[in-house]
Amino acid sequence: MTINSKRVVVVTGGASGIGLGISKLFAASGHPVAMLDMQEAALERESAALAAAGAKVLGLKTDVSDRGQVEAAYAAVRKTLGPIAIVIANAGISVSADFRTLSIEAWQRMIDVNLTGVFHTLQPAIADMADAKWGRIVTISSQAAQSGAQDRAHYAASKGGVIGLTRSLARELAPLGITVNTIPPSLVDTPLARAGEAAGQVPPLEVIAQMIPIQRPGTPEDIANACEFLCSDKASYITGQEINVNGGSWM
Ligand SMILES: NC(=O)c1ccc[n+]([C@@H]2O[C@H](COP(=O)([O-])OP(=O)(O)OC[C@H]3O[C@@H](n4cnc5c(N)ncnc54)[C@H](O)[C@@H]3O)[C@@H](O)[C@H]2O)c1
Repeated sequence: MTINSKRVVVVTGGASGIGLGISKLFAASGHPVAMLDMQEAALERESAALAAAGAKVLGLKTDVSDRGQVEAAYAAVRKTLGPIAIVIANAGISVSADFRTLSIEAWQRMIDVNLTGVFHTLQPAIADMADAKWGRIVTISSQAAQSGAQDRAHYAASKGGVIGLTRSLARELAPLGITVNTIPPSLVDTPLARAGEAAGQVPPLEVIAQMIPIQRPGTPEDIANACEFLCSDKASYITGQEINVNGGSWM
């Protein structure tokens, strides 16, 4: 992979699931990685494990729905690791609810984290990339926005917003040397997916997997591998795309 491993990577939601898989892969490639997440204990545990393996990592407790917290985290990233070159906007929540009784508060929290959180994550990082005339942004959206999702209209709406934001930024930032793409996963075996299964909101993951052409749930590593490629110099002509890493579940 043609990749400059000195480039600083920010991964939101980096303490668990897909974000942790992405953080691990970039760290293993030698990148300095800042993991931003709300879960303090998991952040400490996972960043310590990566540091013990020789990685240059920074775990920063951050709620991406709070602009002040994101900006404070970025100040720490710049001071400790350097200017931000790559951002993976991955942090997200998924909650099931009947649309007819969905509360305004539940709708608002979904939008605040999954969509406005991406706005807060991306906007303050762009100046660093523009200065370097090089940058990579990958958003993690969802197949829910492509196919629709039963009892998760607010989730699908938030992720549809992420896809529209991704495409628009791809146009706006291309002249600055910054590519912007989205990966909309389908079913990935993570604590989030297992929590939905445990709550009876979705069938067992192994049952859902039988409906996927490649008959298994995705892994965080599957998503991380595509992410790494999109953030390499080899992907310099790919922007504004939905890269479906989903075992063929949506074509
Ligand atoms: N797992 C799947 O099947 C699947 C499918 C499609 C899309 N996705 C998307 O992938 C992304 C990662 O999901 P995952 O399955 O790894 O979930 P996960 O719950 O394992 O990890 C998500 C992480 O994001 C963090 N987070 C949540 N809200 C945050 C906030 N406000 N600020 C900072 N961090 C916050 C959580 O603490 C957690 O560590 C999400 O955006 C999710 O919507 C997942």
